[in-house]
Amino acid sequence: MSRSPRHEDIQLQAPTVKSAETVPAVEDRSYLVFILSAFAIALGGGFLIAIFLPLAESGTIPGAERVPRLIQAHGWAQLQGWAGLFVAGMALRLLPRFAGRKPLQRRMNLAVLAVLVPAVILRIVAEPFASGTFGAVLVILAAIAGAIGAAAVGATVIVTLQRGRKKQEPWRYFALAGAAWWLLWAALMVVGGIQATDHARYTPATFDDTMTWIVMLGAIGNFIWCVQSRSVPVFFGRKNPPLRKAVPPGALLNAGVALLAISLLPMSDTAGQSIAGLGLACAGIATAWLAPLCGAVRGKATRLRPRARAASQFVLVGNLAAVLAGVLLAWAGIDSLVRGEFAATALRDAARHSIGVGLITMLILGMAQLVAPVFALSRAEARPPALWERSVFWLMTASLILRVVAALLLGHMDGQARLHLVSASGALAWLGLAMFATTIVLAIRREPRMKALLGVPT
Ligand code: HEM
Repeated sequence: MSRSPRHEDIQLQAPTVKSAETVPAVEDRSYLVFILSAFAIALGGGFLIAIFLPLAESGTIPGAERVPRLIQAHGWAQLQGWAGLFVAGMALRLLPRFAGRKPLQRRMNLAVLAVLVPAVILRIVAEPFASGTFGAVLVILAAIAGAIGAAAVGATVIVTLQRGRKKQEPWRYFALAGAAWWLLWAALMVVGGIQATDHARYTPATFDDTMTWIVMLGAIGNFIWCVQSRSVPVFFGRKNPPLRKAVPPGALLNAGVALLAISLLPMSDTAGQSIAGLGLACAGIATAWLAPLCGAVRGKATRLRPRARAASQFVLVGNLAAVLAGVLLAWAGIDSLVRGEFAATALRDAARHSIGVGLITMLILGMAQLVAPVFALSRAEARPPALWERSVFWLMTASLILRVVAALLLGHMDGQARLHLVSASGALAWLGLAMFATTIVLAIRREPRMKALLGVPT
C-alpha cells in the first residue's frame, strides 16, 4: 500500500538528469487530459475487448459472428485511442519545448482532443455493434473526425518544428517523419471508412492490416524513437546518438513504411504482398537496430533518482520487446516477399503485440513516470516504489510474454486453449493498467499537499 506523504519521505534530491522535468510555476495541464482519455479508452475499450474477443472467438462466450469487426475495433482502440492519444498529447506538449518555442495554447490542444476522442469512441462502438445505414453513417463520421484530428496533430508538429530551432539532432527528423505519417493516416482513415461502409462496417483485411502497420511503425514508432533518442541513453549513462548514427536505421524504418504505403496502390495481389513484405522486413531490421541505439536494452539507469530508477525497467523491457519484434517482423516480411502472399500470420501477430504491449505500452508507462510533470514530485521522493506499484511492472511483463508466446503457438496447440491464454494475457494487462491509472489519480490528488510541504508554488 502506498503511504501518505510524510515530510521525511519527500527529501528532494538534486536533479541529476536535465530532461527529467521539474515542476514549472504555472503549467498547462491539458497533456493530463490526453493521458487520462488514453487510459479511459484503453481500460473501457482496447484492453477490455482484448479479454472478451478471444473468448468469443473460442466459443466460450457468445458473439462469434462479431469477431472480425471486434478485431478491427480492438486494433483501432489501441492505436488511435491508447497509443495515438498518448503520443499526440506528449508531442503537442514536448515538441515545442524541444524546438525552443513557447508552449502551444491550451485551447488548441483541447480542440484536437475534442475531435480525436469522439472519433475513436464512435469507431469502436459503431463497427461491431451498430447496423444498417445508421452504422455506416457513424463509421464515416468517425473516420472524418479522426482524420481531422490526425491531420491537426501532423500539421501542428510540422509547423512547430519549422518555426523552431533547427537542431541537427535525431529527435527532430523522427518527429518530422512521424508527423508526415500522421497526415497520411488522416487520408487513410477516410479511405478505410468509405471502404468499411461497402463491406458491412468491415475494412477489407489486407488494407486494414497494412494501415495498422503504417500507423504503428510510422505515426507512433517515429515519435517513440524521437522521445527516446533525446532522453533514454542519458538516463542509462550513455550519450544521446548523433544524427549520423541515427540516419541509417531511421531512413530504413521510414523506407519500410513508405513501401507499405506503396503496396496499397492499385496493383496485383502478388506484387502488393511482395512490396508490403519488403516494407515489413526493412522496418523490422530498423526497429531491432534503433532499440539499442536510441533506447536502452541493458544497463542500469544510474543517472536517475532511486525512485525513478524503477520506472526505467519499463523502458528496458519495452526496448527488448522492440528487438524481438524487429526480428519477428523481418522474418514475416521476408516470408511474404518470397511467397508473394499474405503469410506468417503467427509471426505478424507476435511482432504486432511485441510492439503493442511491449514497445508501446511498456514505454508509455515508463516514460509517463519519467517525464510527465504530474509524477515530478513522486519521482523526487526518497522512498522506493511500493509493492503494489512494482507489481504493475510484473503484471505487464507477464502479459507481454503470454501474448507473444500465445501468438507463436498458433497451429502448435489446441486452438481453444491458445485463445484462453490470449484472453488471460489481456486480463493481466487490464489489471496492470488499472493499477497504474490509480497511481496517476493518486499523484494528481497528492500534488497540492506535496507542493505545500515542499513550498513549490501552485
Ligand atoms: C495483452 C493485451 C492484448 C491482447 C490480449 C490482444 C489481443 C488481440 C487479438 C486476439 C487480436 C486478433 C488477432 C487475430 O486473430 O488476428 C489482436 C489484434 C490486434 N491488436 Fe491486440 N491485443 C492486446 C494488446 C494490443 C495493444 C497494446 C495493441 C497496440 C497498441 C494492439 C494492437 C492490435 C492490432 C493493431 C491488431 C490487428 C487489428 C486488425 O487486424 O485490424 N493489441 N489483438
